[in-house]
Amino acid sequence: TSTAATSVSIAGDISSQLHAGYSHPLSRAWQAERQLTKSMLIYPLFITDNPNEVTPIPSLPNQNRLGLNKLVPFLEPLVAKGLRSVILFGVPLAPTAKDALGTAADDPEGPVIQAIQLIRRQFPSLFIVADVCLCEYTSHGHCGILRDDGSLNNAMSVERISDVAMAYAQAGAHCVAPSDMNDGRIRAIKLKLIEAGLSHQVNLMSYAAKFSGCLYGPFRDAAGSCPSFGDRKCYQLPPGGRGLARRAIVRDINEGADIIMVKPASSFLDIISDAKELAKDMPIAAYQVSGEYAMIHAGAKAGVFDLKTMAFESTEGILRAGAGIVVSYFTPEFLDWLSS
Ligand code: PBG
Ligand code: ZN
Repeated sequence: TSTAATSVSIAGDISSQLHAGYSHPLSRAWQAERQLTKSMLIYPLFITDNPNEVTPIPSLPNQNRLGLNKLVPFLEPLVAKGLRSVILFGVPLAPTAKDALGTAADDPEGPVIQAIQLIRRQFPSLFIVADVCLCEYTSHGHCGILRDDGSLNNAMSVERISDVAMAYAQAGAHCVAPSDMNDGRIRAIKLKLIEAGLSHQVNLMSYAAKFSGCLYGPFRDAAGSCPSFGDRKCYQLPPGGRGLARRAIVRDINEGADIIMVKPASSFLDIISDAKELAKDMPIAAYQVSGEYAMIHAGAKAGVFDLKTMAFESTEGILRAGAGIVVSYFTPEFLDWLSS
């Protein structure tokens, strides 16, 4: 009799009937609040000062450092497949390129400014984001200007970094994205953009919640930006610091950011969700960083999972947490996968 009673109650319970909602590929797709589209993707590019260079980055599968002469042929097929946006990182290789002030960061003949101008000319519809930092250009590899004791001089760093951001904006970047994590840089850049009459057309994307950790290694190989001593723990957030991340997000909203970024992505999904809550009227970006990308490649190579399935699963998790923009090294693959 107890069996009969159970089956009657299951049969009568309409609230437990969920399967129809995922019975068909389309009804499955409808379950997502946001579905990945090509316009959500920003593709990172490493541009060197050696014009003919195409050098694979060993720890970052399928990614290359590119010289200016290689940029247009590289981008042409991607733009044809629907690439909408790139984020540019400069990689100065010339032995004299680095100094204590990161002077080469805004060299008008340097790779980033040259690449911005070239892309504007050749691909007028591509949205250009310029990462703004000094670590690729400083002799010590830190993200700002240092005091004698090796700590960041915040005031001098902000002054310098906001000048570099202005140089990229003036060269034609649609968006400047400071990743240095100095206090007050969003306000300083915003004020300079306003003063120069550019604030109505240049977006300011803040790496507001950028955590320190072990996931940036392949990027630092690619960009040659590993600090020569110490680490970045005194200016990038501690991985457990959810409260600090929330304060940094609120601060950067109030300082005039147009877009809030969280980075890395997959191990900080709660922070992405916090960012969506705190900046509910703004676009939220997440950076699936070099170490996350390399880890997915390594897992696929080891037979743990299928690369494409995991690329989608990780990216959909990032969207579900609240991001609407994803900086992703998988962008070229997604342009193919989202076409078929
Ligand atoms: C520069 C910068 C870094 C990344 C983006 N901008 C490296 C760092 O902070 O050490 C990391 C991106 C990645 O790992 O893919 N400040
Ligand atoms: Zn940096």
